[in-house]
Amino acid sequence: MVYAGIIGTGSYLPERIMPNSELEKMVETSDEWIQSRTGIKQRHIARDDESTCDMGLQAALKAIDASGMDKNDIDLIIFATTTPDQTFPSTACLLQRELGITNNCIAFDVQAVCAGFVYAISIANNFIKTGMAKSILVVGGESLSKIVDWTDRSTCVLFGDGAGAVVITAQDNPGIYNSVLHANGSHANLLEVPSGISRPGNSPFIKMSGSDVFKFAVTSMEAVVDEVLTGTELNQSDIDWLVPHQANKRIITATAKKLSLPLEKVIMTVQDHGNTSAASIPLALDVAVRDGRIQRGQILMFEAIGGGFAWGAVILRY
Ligand code: UT7
Repeated sequence: MVYAGIIGTGSYLPERIMPNSELEKMVETSDEWIQSRTGIKQRHIARDDESTCDMGLQAALKAIDASGMDKNDIDLIIFATTTPDQTFPSTACLLQRELGITNNCIAFDVQAVCAGFVYAISIANNFIKTGMAKSILVVGGESLSKIVDWTDRSTCVLFGDGAGAVVITAQDNPGIYNSVLHANGSHANLLEVPSGISRPGNSPFIKMSGSDVFKFAVTSMEAVVDEVLTGTELNQSDIDWLVPHQANKRIITATAKKLSLPLEKVIMTVQDHGNTSAASIPLALDVAVRDGRIQRGQILMFEAIGGGFAWGAVILRY
């Protein structure tokens, strides 16, 4: 049996840190409101000339280095992003060029907003299981500061920029046990950037009905963490670490409670990174791998929900 396993992680955060105190000067908000409603203390903001691909490149270089692989042995690049550098080519193709990978490997983007990394990991797992790829670079990267309306206090306090990456290879033992993905487009208008290439003229900024998203997020995350364990040899008590999408500390806490996991077993970076959409899980993963909390052989659960709505979860042995 062939399984997909993570053999290297990397991440990158832009140098500039924006604390809540800076937002207090821009919109009618307070550090107290932001921290109590979301858990966020600060976020990183990319330079004007720093792109999603630039950040993904730094994360990818670290992940490839940690994996010990030759970059030209990578046979698939999946870039999860909702803030690509260009309409086309895909950010994955731009990254392939910037990495200097010359083997003509497959490269494409995945657009599932905050669930993008979970979608990309699940796709990578299936490429490995079907034998279509053996060594995959999965990147989640976002420049959300460029689609935030900095005069809208209901959204501008939430988001940040950054990138995370993993290298996944075929192996004999798990690896990824299971993944589940879902979407429900009837909720599209609750979290969206209304303008786009073929439908221009509307707002080019994030618009969100926060409390509706919050309610759906709590319910769907509670359901999906049960669903992803079903049919595996694992149960809730086997989970060593929950590595959730980092949108809101209150959503994460509710999911941990559902899994009967104490918060000490949850990787929480929302306080430092804000919500970085597709980048949030690989960023959190890399932080905890590098500070020594996540160890080889441990069971990890990833879960995420975002615009669409699109959501999902992955259970794996690291
Ligand atoms: O990653 C994709 C998925 N996204 C998410 O999971 C986000 C889900 N939603 C949330 O995290 C929360 O809904 C928010 C953090 C966005 C908002 O928290 P909330 O507890 O749902 O607040 P609310 O939207 O119900 O607003 C409560 C009050 C309102 O005032 P009134 O109407 O009660 O007078 C807002 O106008 O808070 C006000 N408010 C603010 N006050 C100070 C909204 N934003 C701010 C702000 N500072 N930045």
